[in-house]
Amino acid sequence: IPVEAFDMVVFGGTGDLARRRILPALYRRFVAGQVSDACRIIAAARSAMTADAFRQETAAALEGALPPPLLDRGRLAAFLDRLDYVTLEAGGETGWAALAARMRPGVVRAFYFSVAPALFGALAERLRAHGIADDDSRVVVEKPFGDDLDTARALNAVLARHFGEGQIYRIDHYLGKETVQNLMAVRFANILFEPLWNAQHVDHVQITVAESAGVAGRGAYYDRAGAMRDMVQNHMMQLLCLTAMEPPWHFSPDAVRDEKLKVIRALDPVRPVDVVRGQYLPAPGQPGYLEDVANPDSRTESFVALKVGISNWRWKGTPFYLRTGKRLRARESEIAVHFREPPHSIFDAAGQWRENVMVIRLQPNEGLNLKVMIKEPGPGGMRLVQVPLDMSFANALGAEGRDMPDAHERLIMDVIRGDQTLFMRGDEVAAAWAWTDPVIARWDAAGDRPQGYAAGSEGPQEAMWLMHRDGRRWREIR
Ligand code: BG6
Repeated sequence: IPVEAFDMVVFGGTGDLARRRILPALYRRFVAGQVSDACRIIAAARSAMTADAFRQETAAALEGALPPPLLDRGRLAAFLDRLDYVTLEAGGETGWAALAARMRPGVVRAFYFSVAPALFGALAERLRAHGIADDDSRVVVEKPFGDDLDTARALNAVLARHFGEGQIYRIDHYLGKETVQNLMAVRFANILFEPLWNAQHVDHVQITVAESAGVAGRGAYYDRAGAMRDMVQNHMMQLLCLTAMEPPWHFSPDAVRDEKLKVIRALDPVRPVDVVRGQYLPAPGQPGYLEDVANPDSRTESFVALKVGISNWRWKGTPFYLRTGKRLRARESEIAVHFREPPHSIFDAAGQWRENVMVIRLQPNEGLNLKVMIKEPGPGGMRLVQVPLDMSFANALGAEGRDMPDAHERLIMDVIRGDQTLFMRGDEVAAAWAWTDPVIARWDAAGDRPQGYAAGSEGPQEAMWLMHRDGRRWREIR
């Protein structure tokens, strides 16, 4: 379904995020027919550049980012025709009148702040002062949304001075992933799981976002952030919320976000014994974390594992174990819900029982795997064996399942449609920082080093212990 006509201004339109994510996403939607010829994308950045030069740069960026079959010459030329460029100083007066003159009346106006958060205030203020943005306009921002509670609050306040909360689209690209949205579909469009989805029936939950890549190339940013700020405060928190939240009364922005916020507020403070952080070590021919960030004294974590408690009626007593890290054995993200033992076994097959596990694979090979017990075939009596009921979305859905839009495609279209369901509300972001801040502050105060772990492993030994001491085990990263 095509979206309305729009003018989208991408501040920082020549930057990395625009080249790698925003423009390719818009192009894909254009090829898919969802973005029509009536849309316009205006990049605004500091460099003096003509619109033609920007189109050429974009063509090169799209060629780098997209598979050749998508780059049909005719479509590409038609898309480039939709692009414009304005040289503009975010914090000065250059370019603003030119930008104002470019905007068309009667179309949706969206402003993508693909710039450092320090510029949000200046952009918001000038957009209003020049009458470029009005009460219907939309503003899109990406992470990092602050680096602690105070800075996040300050950013919320700066934006709120010029725009209503209903106009602010804070992206967490994990919410744009098809499988992450599928988590809500699986939970709330089936009756099968929800009755068991609580502390009475769930022993524990494991959420893993493992990456095989290191941080080379973005060491300067990463070394200031670390896994806690880069992944846990946002992406992992969203996965935790969608897994743990109560059914919203409706799939609409505030209904969903209210429920997520309640989960964050119910999180227990993390005890020091419940968190492990690690840093990947060098491997033959491969630099370690310290070399990748060019900081031999770095105390920043490239891995973190946490045991998290949720103090509410549904979850009290069921721990959620979270782990995420760089340079691990594989790129693999999943949520695994481990169910409790049946109350009584009628079989004499003690020791053969394995818990039911429901695994939602987020990436790669997106799908659902339910581990169930059945009888082992053969005449040897009643012997039990665990087997997977395994479904990959791509196989189950055919071509449609394979051609899943990428997160930014989905989210940018939602901005134009004016649907905030998959965007973070200001209070949600703040609550997440309020929970992560004390953990980070404790590390800063202690000043000690994260545990080293071998590149290509499953993380530091201590992370294994986090589970073992509770008589549990992490699922293997393969
Ligand atoms: C980003 C983080 O937000 O998410 C990166 O800054 C991380 O460090 C990335 O690699 C992971 O996203 P994805 O979509 O590759 O799982």
